Amino acid sequence: MQLLEGEKELILACVDEVLSNNSKNRENLIPILQKVQVRLGYLPPLAMEKIAEGIKVPPADVYGLATFYNQFRLNPPGKHQVKVCLGTACYMAGGDITLESFERRMKIKESETSPDRLYSLERVACVGCCTMAPVVVVDEEVEGKVTPTRVDGIMLALNEENDKSNLEQEPEQGRMDSDELK
Ligand code: FES
Repeated sequence: MQLLEGEKELILACVDEVLSNNSKNRENLIPILQKVQVRLGYLPPLAMEKIAEGIKVPPADVYGLATFYNQFRLNPPGKHQVKVCLGTACYMAGGDITLESFERRMKIKESETSPDRLYSLERVACVGCCTMAPVVVVDEEVEGKVTPTRVDGIMLALNEENDKSNLEQEPEQGRMDSDELK
């Protein structure tokens, strides 16, 4: 995943800060990874390399640990986060078809984030609304009885929201440009 403008500096500063406030030994690797993830929202490869360097362990050990525990997220959270429930009730009601529908429409696989960082897609265990199976959680909103047609509707609404927020940002940009010309 390509880093955004200024993100590299942010990652380096965050890792520096966490390493300087924690003892740099292998036993502390999990808390260090957790703290970096809380600050950045995920564990970018650059952060894991710098952590490995800081506590003097092979980078493969840090990657190995981060991929072993599913509390660690290796992709940045999207602007819109879609979580598809694949607990037993949702799976039986076609949750896997719902997941595939989102994968096709977002053009990413589960656990991934779209290159423009607008969408991220995850599978989750039971979210406690089994009577509404199959369930998805879209930006903290629970949606029940989600069919592939409903997936189309959800994606349409999210795309419209993105277009609207782009339009709202453009006049701002225009104003800044004309101010700069003065
Ligand atoms: S299994 Fe999906 S909400 Fe319970």
